Amino acid sequence: MSEGEKQKSSSQEKVQNRYRPLKVAVNVEHLWVERNGKTILEDINLKIYEREIVAIVGPNGGGKTTFLKTLLGLIKPTRGKVEIFNLPPEEAVKRHLIGYVPQKINMKKESCLSALDVVLLGMWFLKIPKEEKIKKALQALEYMNVLHLKEKRFSDLSGGQQQRVNIARAIASEPKLLLLDEPTTGIDFAGQQTFYQLIQKLRDEKGFTVVMVTHDVGVVWKYVDKAVCINKRLHYHGDPKLILDPKILEKIYNAPVVPLYHQHP
Ligand SMILES: Nc1ncnc2c1ncn2[C@@H]1O[C@H](COP(=O)(O)OP(=O)(O)O)[C@@H](O)[C@H]1O
Ligand SMILES: [Mg+2]
Repeated sequence: MSEGEKQKSSSQEKVQNRYRPLKVAVNVEHLWVERNGKTILEDINLKIYEREIVAIVGPNGGGKTTFLKTLLGLIKPTRGKVEIFNLPPEEAVKRHLIGYVPQKINMKKESCLSALDVVLLGMWFLKIPKEEKIKKALQALEYMNVLHLKEKRFSDLSGGQQQRVNIARAIASEPKLLLLDEPTTGIDFAGQQTFYQLIQKLRDEKGFTVVMVTHDVGVVWKYVDKAVCINKRLHYHGDPKLILDPKILEKIYNAPVVPLYHQHP
């Protein structure tokens, strides 16, 4: 191929890439969830595209955790459709496409598991030799900047360090979609910024799609592509900057809310 032809073909590729339709990672249509006769989620419609970082905000009891569990297939919809990369959630889980960090991880204080053990426990289902598992676990710890803590007891780590290990555990098996439920609870402001930068790095370098529940409205908008507010219904979906709007916050939280701004860059 001549130099000119090469250039032409490369520019054609660029054009094709630019116009390649984005893959839908999460597709939710008319989702209703009831538990014990009570409606928890009502007619939720949402599309999340591959490589997007999405924040879910909303009041406690609004159904955010229920929503994530529905994406994982742990809770069945009463009505409506949920697809993860065009698959039913159970199938996506079976194919290890989803990594999940729950809101509360019950780990006994006296547990003597090391950080590395915790990551390895999250890879029990992988049918690969142990040495390879360890290699992947160490890579994930390194990626989350906690490799130096691998021998430390998980229960002795700070909240922020534990959360990084938890994410290392969720990404070690190389899923495509990462679901995080209030990952920055108990982490200070500087820690939150670093944490969200790491999440961006995961997306940029590893191509993850990330959906996280959070209350850090004053911080998170800078790091996400979309904000979604869930309080039984989906109240708002779009430009993350708007979750700083007191009128929108008041509507979502059913009470006046003043977002805490941080002026640092
Ligand atoms: N296991 C359950 N059985 C019945 N209702 C539940 C269960 N778990 C949560 N709920 C109810 O579902 C609603 C939404 O809870 P949740 O999804 O945890 O909200 P959020 O994560 O936004 O705080 C709440 O009213 C809660 O009481
Ligand atoms: Mg919750």
